[in-house]
Amino acid sequence: MVSEFNAPNPVLFGIGTRKQVGEKLKRFGCTKVLLVYDPGIKAIGVADEINSYIEAAGIETVHYGNVQADPPDWSVNEAGELGIREKVDGVVGIGGGSSIDSAKAAKMLQTNPPPINQYFGREGVITKPSVPLIVIPTTAGTGSECTPGGVITDTTVHAKLNIAGVGCQVNLGIVDPELTVGLPPRSTAATGFDAFCHCAESFTSGRPNPYSGVVGKEGMRLVAKYLERAVKNGKEDIEAREGMMLAATLGGIAMSGALCHMSHDIGKSLGAAFGIAHGNACGACLPQVLQAVTPAVPDRVRFIAETFGAEVPEDATNEQLGEIICETMKAFMNRIDFPKLSGYGISLEEMLAVVPDGVMAQVNGAIKLFGGYGTSPIEVTPELIKDIVTRAYNEN
Ligand SMILES: [Fe+2]
Repeated sequence: MVSEFNAPNPVLFGIGTRKQVGEKLKRFGCTKVLLVYDPGIKAIGVADEINSYIEAAGIETVHYGNVQADPPDWSVNEAGELGIREKVDGVVGIGGGSSIDSAKAAKMLQTNPPPINQYFGREGVITKPSVPLIVIPTTAGTGSECTPGGVITDTTVHAKLNIAGVGCQVNLGIVDPELTVGLPPRSTAATGFDAFCHCAESFTSGRPNPYSGVVGKEGMRLVAKYLERAVKNGKEDIEAREGMMLAATLGGIAMSGALCHMSHDIGKSLGAAFGIAHGNACGACLPQVLQAVTPAVPDRVRFIAETFGAEVPEDATNEQLGEIICETMKAFMNRIDFPKLSGYGISLEEMLAVVPDGVMAQVNGAIKLFGGYGTSPIEVTPELIKDIVTRAYNEN
C-alpha cells in the first residue's frame, strides 16, 4: 500500500503550557522574534500576555497584529517584510487558523524572498528552511499546529492557495486549552465541528493512511464526548475544553496526507462566495456527505455512527447505514445548535450557482485548495454535489 502522510511536529500540550513559550524560544536560540496575530487577539489581552512570557526570557519582540481572516497575500507579505526588516530569528503565531497560517507564511519569507505568491502550489515549489516557528492556537478547530502547510488568498487570481514544505514548517505547537475558555458557544461549535470534519473526512478519505485511521478515530471519540459540553458550558468545563483542544490537534494530524473531501470542498466554495465561517460552511453538508460515501466505506461510517450513539443493526444494509449516519449527524448538529445552511439569507439557487463548479474545480485540481485533489472515496460529479447541497439546505 502506498500512503502519503506527515510525521507531526513536536507539540507541547496542556493547561498553562503557553507560559513556557519564552523558554522554548530560548532553546531554539532565538534572540528577537516576530509575533503574528489579529486585532481580536490583541483586544482580549492574549498577545500581550504571550509577549510578557517571551520578554521575561530575555527575547526581543516585534509585532505584526494585522492578520486578516482568510489571510490575503498582501497581509502575509507585510508580516514577512517586517520580520526581514527587523532581522528576527524566530516567528510566533498566536490565534486561530488565519493567524497560524499567516505566521507560517511569514516564517517562509524570512529565507525565501517575498512575495509569497511565488511559493503557492504543491508540486515543483521548493522552499529553503527558515527560522524557528512556534504556533499557539486559541481555538480548538483547525489543528494547523500539526498540518504541513497553510492556506493564503491570492488576491491576483481571487483564489485560496496552498503554501507547504520545509520553509513553513512548524517547529513547536504550544497547545493550551485554557486559551479557548473565553470562546463563545457559536465559535466553539463552528471550530469544534471543523475539527470533527477533519477527523471524519480523513477517516473516510479515498486516500487513507495510518494516521487518518488511528488518530482520526480518537479525535472523533473526543468530539462525541466533549463538543456538546464545550458548547453548553465552555466557561466552567475545562475538561471539555481540554478534550476538544486535543481533538483539534489530532484532527490536524489525521488529515495530513489523507486530506478532507466533499464536505470541506463544498464548504470552501460556500465560504469563498458568501463569507460563511469555515467550520460552519465545511460542516453544513457532512450528514449527506457521509451518507453518500457509505457504500464505499461502510465499516468506517458504522464506527462514526456508533461513536455518536447510534444503534446500528448487525445486518444493516448500506442503504440503512447511510440513513442512520445522516440522521445521527443531524441530531448531533441540533444538539450543538449548528447553524443551518438555509439560515444565512442566501437562496438555494444562489448556492447552487457557485457550488458544483467550485467543488469540481478543486477535485480536478484547477484550484489548489487544501482538501481537494480527488480524495473522496467515491466519484465526485456535479450532480452528486448538487444533490448533497440541496438536501442539506432543505433537511438539516
Ligand atoms: Fe477545516
